[in-house]
Amino acid sequence: MNESRSYKWTGAGGPFTLAVDEGVFTPSSTSRVLGDAMQVREGDTVLDAGCGCGVLSFAAARLGAARVIGCDVSPAAVECATKNARELGLSDITEFRCGSLFEPVQDIRADIVIADVSGIPDVIAKTTGWFPDGHGGGPTGAELPVAMLDGLADHIAPGGHAYLPTGSIQDESRVLQAARQVFGDGMQAVATRDFPLPETITRARDVARLLSDGVIRLTRRGSRFFWRLTIWRCSPS
Ligand SMILES: C[S@@+](CC[C@H](N)C(=O)[O-])C[C@H]1O[C@@H](n2cnc3c(N)ncnc32)[C@H](O)[C@@H]1O
Repeated sequence: MNESRSYKWTGAGGPFTLAVDEGVFTPSSTSRVLGDAMQVREGDTVLDAGCGCGVLSFAAARLGAARVIGCDVSPAAVECATKNARELGLSDITEFRCGSLFEPVQDIRADIVIADVSGIPDVIAKTTGWFPDGHGGGPTGAELPVAMLDGLADHIAPGGHAYLPTGSIQDESRVLQAARQVFGDGMQAVATRDFPLPETITRARDVARLLSDGVIRLTRRGSRFFWRLTIWRCSPS
């Protein structure tokens, strides 16, 4: 049986309640910080890459977007987001498509692209349980975001921009290097937040190796370790 949990979004465009079906990513602190950093203008077209249950699509719709297209590699996520759109009465504005990266949205150029595909190392995804399918963004967490950055600019309409989350919990320098190749100086950090990483995770052997190899970076405060999230507003030059 497909189990579904109820999730209340109190961030930008909220409050609203969503179903998060089994196997679908539950909105996280990153979703919240990204949602609150988004500036959506009345009438914008928004592309939500890695939409999960659709939370940021619905936030964008409630903030005034005229059209929102979400996409995700997970059929369960696309089905869940489509169902949530119906429940929220947003089916006329939102649409969800299944496929990897920008493959299902070749026809879309948007004023805002939410570029939030999985981006933490697979081993952290497995250890934390944050990702229901156990897959993160590749061995260092940079592989999937870097692949996404390759096609991103083609989906931004003239005058538009993308919101890209990066974190010290992934090989962030590699993601930023790829992003700078695409956007040059058109990158602005619009939100930064530190989050604690549970000790059980920092002590896991494979995570400790990523740390000692300098792939991920954590800051120690007393006995606690924190990772840093940054949201970038990226405009093609
Ligand atoms: C960090 S979650 C974010 C979900 C949603 N934006 C949110 O805030 O709740 C990343 C999403 O990227 C999706 N994803 C992973 N690999 C993908 C790929 N190759 N193409 C598109 N989406 C992908 C996952 O299924 C997941 O729903």
